[in-house]
Amino acid sequence: MHSRRALLYMPGDNWKMITKSVTLGVDSICMDMEDGTAVNKKAEARATISKALQELDFGASEKLARINSVGSGWEKDDIEAVLPYHPDGIVIPKVESFEQVEWASRIIEAAELKYGWPINSVRILIGVETAKGILNLKEIAAHPRLDAIIFGGEDFAASIGAVRTKDAVELLYARQAVIVACAANDLQALDIVTIDYKDLEALKVESQFGAGLGFSGKQIIHPNQVSAVQEAFTPSDESIAYARRIVETFEASQKEGKGAYALDDKMIDMPLLKNAQKVLARAKAAGK
Ligand code: COA
Ligand code: MG
Repeated sequence: MHSRRALLYMPGDNWKMITKSVTLGVDSICMDMEDGTAVNKKAEARATISKALQELDFGASEKLARINSVGSGWEKDDIEAVLPYHPDGIVIPKVESFEQVEWASRIIEAAELKYGWPINSVRILIGVETAKGILNLKEIAAHPRLDAIIFGGEDFAASIGAVRTKDAVELLYARQAVIVACAANDLQALDIVTIDYKDLEALKVESQFGAGLGFSGKQIIHPNQVSAVQEAFTPSDESIAYARRIVETFEASQKEGKGAYALDDKMIDMPLLKNAQKVLARAKAAGK
């Protein structure tokens, strides 16, 4: 699975921002037809994204297109406009049911067959960011074409009538619901946008908190946000070294017939081994 520590949005009708995005070394580039694009610019966004998919070299960055929500009335024209140019994935916002993912999955599979692309070569990422979406996560997250669930904090706050605060305590339950659904289905979980994009200290704190909760990456909206987010979602050298020591010493202790043992005055047993293995997997995915 593509590593998605930082997923950068830009309005799909903004050619200047799209051309800039491919120079940033960002993990994923998400050209948006939904809320980042004005209602009277939807057609222009479809055309601009199609042009970008045909003409630009995205390098190692993943190229994604976000359609409008299923039921908005725009979704069919959105997906049909960009799909022929083989984006790496389609992002569906405000998903509330399994059927909405299945709708996109069928259209994508038909395109894969029509153009002779490998089956599943176009992935689906979904936004789950409403009360209904959170309640239906169990069914939704089991869809086989999914790679990642993106949690939209502003949309969710609007959906439940919460007041957004800096430490985002009002979002904690839903963020953890998304993380649990992702962990249970081997999906990536992508955290909220820090909309105050000039406050890099706040971004760092929020990114580290999200990584600690178990998110694998974070949505961003400005080039300034790329490096801090990539760093926060890449295991540090110390945590990698410690994870390696746990893996090595665990094996030796098993051979001695001990399930639990002491390392640096801390108890190590199976769950700590599993967590250490997760750290090493994330480090590897980030190219470390
Ligand atoms: N992607 C790529 N490039 C971007 C960018 C983005 N999301 N946001 C800004 N840039 C570029 C600008 O074009 C500018 O380029 P230049 O130096 O070559 O002229 C440079 O980065 C600096 O931009 P800046 O002037 O600081 O920002 P701004 O005032 O032009 O725009 C926002 C601020 C928030 C309006 C803008 O960042 C944005 O639209 N972000 C994406 C919003 C979005 O997609 N929302 C929907 C999903 S949540
Ligand atoms: Mg949104």
